[in-house]
Amino acid sequence: MTAITIRRPDDLHLHLRDGEAMRSVLPFTAARFARALVMPNLRPPVTATQQALAYRQRILDALPAGVAFEPLMTLYLTDRTEPAEVDRARASGCIVGFKLYPAGATTHSDAGVTDIRKVDAVLSRMEEQDLVLEVHGEVTDPQVDVFDREARFIEEVLTGLAARFPRLRIVFEHITTRAAVQFVLGSRPGIAATLTPQHLLMNRNALFAGGIRPHHYCLPVLKSEPDREALNAAAASGDPRFFLGTDSAPHARGAKETACGCAGMFCAHGAIELYAEAFEAAGALARLEAFASEHGADFYRLPRNEGRITLIKTPWEVPRSYPFGTEEIVPLRAGEHIGWRLAGTERG
Ligand code: DOR
Ligand code: ZN
Repeated sequence: MTAITIRRPDDLHLHLRDGEAMRSVLPFTAARFARALVMPNLRPPVTATQQALAYRQRILDALPAGVAFEPLMTLYLTDRTEPAEVDRARASGCIVGFKLYPAGATTHSDAGVTDIRKVDAVLSRMEEQDLVLEVHGEVTDPQVDVFDREARFIEEVLTGLAARFPRLRIVFEHITTRAAVQFVLGSRPGIAATLTPQHLLMNRNALFAGGIRPHHYCLPVLKSEPDREALNAAAASGDPRFFLGTDSAPHARGAKETACGCAGMFCAHGAIELYAEAFEAAGALARLEAFASEHGADFYRLPRNEGRITLIKTPWEVPRSYPFGTEEIVPLRAGEHIGWRLAGTERG
């Protein structure tokens, strides 16, 4: 039997939702990860420091007894965010960044930024206060082909943004294309990217395998096989600018299996195990630990976690659904197998 033991990892991009739905999904993440960066796209969005602190407390209150887990918070940037909010966020000690959703780009992004120039003063203050900007990198023009929206965002927004704020640390979230990998590799210091397990393991054929597959729909949408190969090469390279962020994004079954289904895949139930599959396939299992447990912590200037988790190479069958508040969610690989299993956690 093959087993690997790694330092406890961090999930640097996670959707936990709120209330009973959050209670349903949080244990999956807390069993695997010591910390997670919790996305602020609730309804209403988490735009203010006080809201983030209250949300953080609700997460802590929802943890299973005896489980230590640290939620890292980020605020939702809007056209009306004030520079003083950056100071409050920094002073809180619990907020590590701000999330840029171009308005209309994805789930619950309607309150997002309509024009990047509108937040210049906030970005400038973030640069001074050394808070991280997390970016959903897609243009929103409905005329632009959905598969080209990330590449266009690099050209039209991100390149200029990185140049105008040369000390602003930026995470290009859930990158999906070869163009995004090349952008990160060619960029100045202080620019990094997260990679999801779904984009490492699947290409866009998975959206249409034998029929339309709503549970494989997320944004940015799955891309081509050459794009997937570029993401795997980046992850397997050991370059510290690439690190783990699952983008696990639960939606109730009914919101996915409908005429106009929501974007988002739920992968928290097997996240680190799915990354192990991807790294094994890339011949880079020895680099999983740095990707999962070191690069992200180092980029965010957090101490690396104490404790270890052990994964064993034993396939297990994923349930067809899990409870999700009063509804249910269909997890990634529902009714199929994941090749690695979480065998133990030593919290350190
Ligand atoms: O597929 C996605 N789902 N992409 C996002 O950017 C948001 C997320 C969600 O919140 O459901
Ligand atoms: Zn996300």
